Amino acid sequence: MSNQTTDIYEVMQTQRAIRRWTDQPVDPVVIERIIQAGCWAPSGSNLQPWGFIVVTDDGKRERLAAAIRESFASRFGDNRPNPDEIPDPTQRRMLKGAFNLFDDFAAAPVWIIPCLVRAQSPAPTGLLAGSSIYPSIQNMMLAARAEGLGTVLTTPQDGIMDELRAELSIPENALPVAMIPMGHPAANFGPVTRQPLENFLHWNGWND
Ligand SMILES: Cc1cc2nc3c(=O)[nH]c(=O)nc-3n(C[C@H](O)[C@H](O)[C@H](O)COP(=O)(O)O)c2cc1C
Repeated sequence: MSNQTTDIYEVMQTQRAIRRWTDQPVDPVVIERIIQAGCWAPSGSNLQPWGFIVVTDDGKRERLAAAIRESFASRFGDNRPNPDEIPDPTQRRMLKGAFNLFDDFAAAPVWIIPCLVRAQSPAPTGLLAGSSIYPSIQNMMLAARAEGLGTVLTTPQDGIMDELRAELSIPENALPVAMIPMGHPAANFGPVTRQPLENFLHWNGWND
């Protein structure tokens, strides 16, 4: 069965976090289509305050993955939570997957690193700044799902900012806001687990 689909509702409903990938390389033409989808996103005043770094180079990924591993280890020291102690099976699986990924980030053959270009941003910091780049991230993750590729939005960048800037020649004005590993999935797509609509939908005012 093909993992590809262009049914947008199916894409959204099945675009779950993928944290394991096969070794199959990803076609650069497909990567460009995905980045193009990111560039179609809206931004405040249409300022498009972004740059998207695609990292496929083995050496760069290995060196930065080692930095992520170190940053993650130093964050917890000897007090790293043990996912096996989490009673809820979904949460347990999620945390296990997240920890494994931070231990071996280079397992993903492609990384997308979206950067907010502050000088072009309608708002340089805070939630409003994020609101002009996160739509592009969602566009890319949905496009990847449509192409049959797995992604997960992750945020280890703050812990390795110096290494990221040095390894990828990122100027001060560009702020990496996420790291999105991507590849052919070694796990199944969705459906995603979410609360029912009625927990979130409020017609004509907030009603409990
Ligand atoms: C802002 C944000 C930050 C996230 N950071 C991480 C992360 O650092 N590591 C990770 O493995 N997953 C991360 N995730 C993925 C979430 O854990 C995942 O989307 C959530 O558990 C729902 O999973 P599902 O889409 O598979 O249902 C992040 C997601 C978002 C939206």
